[in-house]
Amino acid sequence: MPCSSIALSCNLSKQIMCGIVGYIGKHKAVSILLEGLKRLEYRGYDSAGVAILQQGKLLVAKKAGRVEVLAHETAKHAFTGTLGIGHTRWATHGGVTDANAHPHISSDGKFALIHNGVIENYSQMKTFLTQKGYTFKSETDTEVLSNLVAYHYAKESSGDTSERFLEGVRKALQHVEGTYGIAVLCIDCPEEMIAARKASPLLLGVGDGEYIIASDASALVSRTQNVVYLKDGEIVHLTAKAFSITTLDQTEVTPIVDTITWSVSDAELGTYSHFMEKEIFEQPVALENSMRGRFSEDGSTAVFGGLNLTASELRQINRFMFCACGTAWHACLVTEHLIERFARLPVEVDYASEFRYRNAPLDPNALFFVLSQSGETIDTLAAMREAKRKGYRVLAINNVVGSTIARESDGGIYQHVGPEIGVASTKAFTSQLLVGAMVALYVARLKDMSFADGTEYVKALKGVPDLVRQVLKQAPAIKEIAKRFAKANDFLFLGRLSLFPIALEGALKLKEISYIHAEGYPAAEMKHGPIALISEKCPSVFFAPQGEIFNKIVSSMQEIKARKGPIIVITTEGTEFPEGLVDAKITIPQCHEAVVPIIASIPVQLLSYYIAVERGCDVDKPRNLAKSVTVE
Ligand code: M6R
Repeated sequence: MPCSSIALSCNLSKQIMCGIVGYIGKHKAVSILLEGLKRLEYRGYDSAGVAILQQGKLLVAKKAGRVEVLAHETAKHAFTGTLGIGHTRWATHGGVTDANAHPHISSDGKFALIHNGVIENYSQMKTFLTQKGYTFKSETDTEVLSNLVAYHYAKESSGDTSERFLEGVRKALQHVEGTYGIAVLCIDCPEEMIAARKASPLLLGVGDGEYIIASDASALVSRTQNVVYLKDGEIVHLTAKAFSITTLDQTEVTPIVDTITWSVSDAELGTYSHFMEKEIFEQPVALENSMRGRFSEDGSTAVFGGLNLTASELRQINRFMFCACGTAWHACLVTEHLIERFARLPVEVDYASEFRYRNAPLDPNALFFVLSQSGETIDTLAAMREAKRKGYRVLAINNVVGSTIARESDGGIYQHVGPEIGVASTKAFTSQLLVGAMVALYVARLKDMSFADGTEYVKALKGVPDLVRQVLKQAPAIKEIAKRFAKANDFLFLGRLSLFPIALEGALKLKEISYIHAEGYPAAEMKHGPIALISEKCPSVFFAPQGEIFNKIVSSMQEIKARKGPIIVITTEGTEFPEGLVDAKITIPQCHEAVVPIIASIPVQLLSYYIAVERGCDVDKPRNLAKSVTVE
């Protein structure tokens, strides 16, 4: 019987965007699982649990709350086994309860299962299994799956327990509609684990006499940098000594072992208080890494190794389509501006979640780009698949090497900024802006941009890390501004042209980590509605760098000030404003138009971060959010 300290209840609960980890080897599994779960906690932090298979028994501990709470719970048990699975959960609906936490045990007590994803047909399967005598302690879709495995295992008449375990899982998965990354233990196979995936990320870490299964590399990189990226529809069957991969239709797969290029220290806080802070301050180096080796020898354009498109093929392209979600969508909007401005080609940007359903008419000569830090965002993946289905060539700008989007795209550009752990994207965003600016340059140089203009553009891009360093030096002053405005309940972010998306991003950053209501608008749009919000209690953050429309932006600022709205301005060094117009000023260095959005992003990242800290918010794990949104 499972040993559990859990009171089970009956709340409907779907598990999404969770983190899963499994260990099989010679060391005590529980500590390795807890360490992995700690590192995966940014994927979900409502509840957590582990199951250890030891001395022929499944020992389970699961608790609502953070991994720390689970760690206290596991400390009460003698978990000594060297085989186990662990889970950290992010729920959409249904209670955050001990009962709904994973792992879920089949009602015959034989199987423990953890799951990331959604089983869409769980209700029909549950009815079927209930008729067959299986019982349920929760209403989670995952518990249905653990019972379905038990049912198929019991039905298998041929083969030994190991073969039946594999077939039981395989047959269960053949009936599943939906998405999953799972790991399963079976009491009859005390030295085995099975894991599988469909549209939820899963990696196998190949260690020294041990294997680790995880939803992302951060959970296993402290033990090994050798990994196999499992593909959709693959099942891996493991002992401590060997593993084999097959597909749902029993085809054998020859594994490819890749090496992770970053190490465990990249995923650790070091001297920083939060990952978001660390990632903001890492940007100069991260951006250097995004550019490394990507300029032509003559220094007049960008070069990309992975586009899988020749220059003449690219010259045929007469339109670009960009799709993404959240912050990455903001990066698309900036890229749109730059491609249209410098390459004079039309660009369309769509939310991936909208594109996948709106059946938009597309230009047959369009080139399709998707942007995704994680490479696992389900809407972006679905948009990409839809575009591919329609015959488009899809390129991905993506940070996580080996992610599903990276693997399924026809080519693309890795961002190379290392792991981004903070839920609020910072370094991945500025790197997307940088890569977007490089794409604009590359296309522009294939069209009409001159050698001289290309050279100047490249020089500007190469100077970005130093410019970012300069802005970061203002962190103490921005912290003071944050303290002054941290009590506001509403904020407006206002920018124009390529800085309108940065206004959107500033508003998103602030609301996701500090829970302050914030909106981003083109500065001139403000008077068409949002101005009604203005009062002495609603500060506006203006992006007002020197340029053609500087005076127009100052006029918008005057309109706000006339209504007593406090103004924080982000402007070019040396800019003066009429007396009394601005309440706080943050400066950025004079820079090339193509890099202004990158440089102007830094102050709003810092401002949002310090405001959230001032308000006592959990910056790296904001309420209701998870790093990677892997279901709709
Ligand atoms: O991994 P992706 O870039 O595809 O993620 C897209 C969004 O979910 C993500 O940018 C989200 O908006 C972040 N929390 C923003 O900080």
